[in-house]
Amino acid sequence: MQKNIVVIEGDGIGPEVTRQAVKVLNAVAEQGGHEFNYHYCLMGACAIDKTGTPLPDETIEAALNSDAILFGAIGHPKYDNDPTAKVRPEQGLLKLRKSLQLFANIRPVTTYPSLQHLSPLKGKILEDVNFIIFRELTGGIYFGKKELNAEGTQASDECIYSREEIERIAHLAFKQAQQRRKKLTLVDKANVLETSRLWRKVVQDIAKQYPDVKVDFLFVDNAAMQIILNPKQFDVILTENMFGDIISDEASVISGSLGLLPSASIGKGSALFEPIHGSYPQATGKDIANPLGSILSAAMLLDHFGLRTEANKVREAANWTLQNGFVTKDIDPINFYFTSTIGELISDYVSGKTPGDIH
Ligand code: IPM
Ligand code: MN
Repeated sequence: MQKNIVVIEGDGIGPEVTRQAVKVLNAVAEQGGHEFNYHYCLMGACAIDKTGTPLPDETIEAALNSDAILFGAIGHPKYDNDPTAKVRPEQGLLKLRKSLQLFANIRPVTTYPSLQHLSPLKGKILEDVNFIIFRELTGGIYFGKKELNAEGTQASDECIYSREEIERIAHLAFKQAQQRRKKLTLVDKANVLETSRLWRKVVQDIAKQYPDVKVDFLFVDNAAMQIILNPKQFDVILTENMFGDIISDEASVISGSLGLLPSASIGKGSALFEPIHGSYPQATGKDIANPLGSILSAAMLLDHFGLRTEANKVREAANWTLQNGFVTKDIDPINFYFTSTIGELISDYVSGKTPGDIH
């Protein structure tokens, strides 16, 4: 197959980890006789530096015309510490999500037996944890009207959801639940928020079309507690934009390192694949960041292209590195391997080459 992939390396460790994912995609392409063409585009702080805007039109254009987008990370400390900055790297990502109508962000959470000691949770709680978060990505408080009064003493952020916005992601989440353990949990704050009451109503209505899926409802404060107390109770979690942002970071530490988790954002047009970690500025250029979040995002991209066997091979390769101690510094601060080495090991594994002596 022939596919056009837009690559947005972004800021901080984004370029380093994304290059490993591209290596792995190249190995897959070579093995299967596929042709992946890459088009590199700017977004984030690096785009502000070069063009004055976090998301140049050219990037939107290329993304709209692509088969998929592979994205690294976004953000720079010089903006985080300046609440008055008018132009911010994150605006680029938000605008890209909106322009491509990437309304569903999908974040799987699994555990790896060899990494259990790194999880802040203990033994039994970790067994059989396997759930997936469906986070709404183009609505809610992130995209409502934002205001600051002239005196700078009062601010507001509006939170709006329409039935249609809830329905389209709810259908995706129910369909996913049907292919898994057939349980869906809606996380909301329906005891306080009108938007949450609409989410509950719409999900109850849609549930009638999926009678084989068991639905339950949790308030977000309780959900935050349950994710730590008893994470194996979850199968598919469905939630709105900001709650999803918060609980997915919380859930990410269960597996032992934030650096491991991939995500897919899908919608009407091209889909986007990115690790859930940020730009990790302190590690930039040191070749120490964990590339697995990015490589496993590339595996989700392969799934999206219908290359399921290849995607599974990449996941198998990633597991193989973890089981054999080929890990980055976040996982083993003493005996660690470099980002680029892990990328090579995984691409070699995918190519069927016996990994050489790298000790
Ligand atoms: C994420 C990030 C983004 C978000 C930021 C960078 C705007 O935290 O993808 O989870 O809040 O959605
Ligand atoms: Mn986040």
